[in-house]
Amino acid sequence: MLDIQKIREDFPILSREVNGKPLIYFDNAATSQTPQVVIDAIVDYYSNYNANIHRGVHTLSQEATDAYEEARLKIQRHFNAKEAHEIIFTSGTTHSINLVANGFASFLNKGDEVIVSALEHHSNIVPWQMLCERTGAHLKVIPINQEGELLMDVFDNLLSSKTKLVFVNHISNALGTINPIEEIIQKTHKVGAVILIDGAQACPHIKPDVQALDVDFYVASAHKICGPTGVGMLYGKQEWLNKLPPYQGGGEMIKEVTFEKTTYADLPHKFEAGTPNIAGGIAFGAALDYMNAIGFDVIAKYEKELLDFGTEQLLAIDGLKIYGTSRQKTSVISFNITGIHPYDIGTIIDKLGIAVRTGHHCAQPIMDFYKIPGTVRASFAFYNTKEEIVKLAEAVKRAQQMLS
Ligand code: ALA
Repeated sequence: MLDIQKIREDFPILSREVNGKPLIYFDNAATSQTPQVVIDAIVDYYSNYNANIHRGVHTLSQEATDAYEEARLKIQRHFNAKEAHEIIFTSGTTHSINLVANGFASFLNKGDEVIVSALEHHSNIVPWQMLCERTGAHLKVIPINQEGELLMDVFDNLLSSKTKLVFVNHISNALGTINPIEEIIQKTHKVGAVILIDGAQACPHIKPDVQALDVDFYVASAHKICGPTGVGMLYGKQEWLNKLPPYQGGGEMIKEVTFEKTTYADLPHKFEAGTPNIAGGIAFGAALDYMNAIGFDVIAKYEKELLDFGTEQLLAIDGLKIYGTSRQKTSVISFNITGIHPYDIGTIIDKLGIAVRTGHHCAQPIMDFYKIPGTVRASFAFYNTKEEIVKLAEAVKRAQQMLS
């Protein structure tokens, strides 16, 4: 059982007011809030051992290097990667995806096919479109049904010997659908293709095991998992990371540089050019420690309760429609009210202290599918409460009265 009140005390921001009302933070799918232990890890780094890593013989540099590499080990353990050097620090999910997309430009040929899903965030569409433009490969799309679920029989038909890469998110940011990634990974491998799973929205709720999944690449951002912004990870199977060319050139990613030829460093440094977000990496490790101490099973169970309760409360409002009604979904509720623009609802309920995201959620193809400009998205985290959800439903009703 979660002691929610105690957990809420770990997050300083949750006790602030917005527009004279206690903050109700339901924009967790955009970014999660940060517990004091993670803030402390950042302050501790800058207060006590701020130095560049992997470079100096001096004490501070060694302390910073040790803490940063310890964070990599925490990430390795969390995702159950076989090797620590299969974890690459990046600036976030978008950077991780672009790193892989750029690397595959050397392996794709004209006429090859890559598959994405209709549920993707723009960050898991645009880099692959750019890759296809560069290489002459074709982009194919797995469509969805009205519930917001992937049409797996169409996926079966899209797969062929021409398929080289498949990219699917683990959980949709706009609808909350949990995709059947085990099946998708198996089927992708059956035709000899490579698969990347975008775990940005899954990692706040689920602890993925990359070895059990047998996934080739898995990517995530720290700031959705109670960590800081500007840092994320790429897991890649060693064989693939060794094959891919580096994404950026610079310091720290080389073995030897001459004007005639440069040789690259071993993993993970080959992909980590330049001074990284050191404090961010260390704080990412602290965030995983924090989440694991609570336990992902407990988190998932509680968030399901919030999802069910929130769905019931919101559906009781006349004219409210929820988009994304799969039975396999996480604590995200995307909705609209007949005749009212989502932006107007978001603006009014902000005045009541409630933070939600409105718009297309960087997933325009999903909005096009439903023929809507966007939705209001309330996304719940383990530190939210049912009392807050009741206030959300009241606020939405009030907005409806004001706007009708
Ligand atoms: N990808 C983030 C969201 O869904 C920003 O809001």
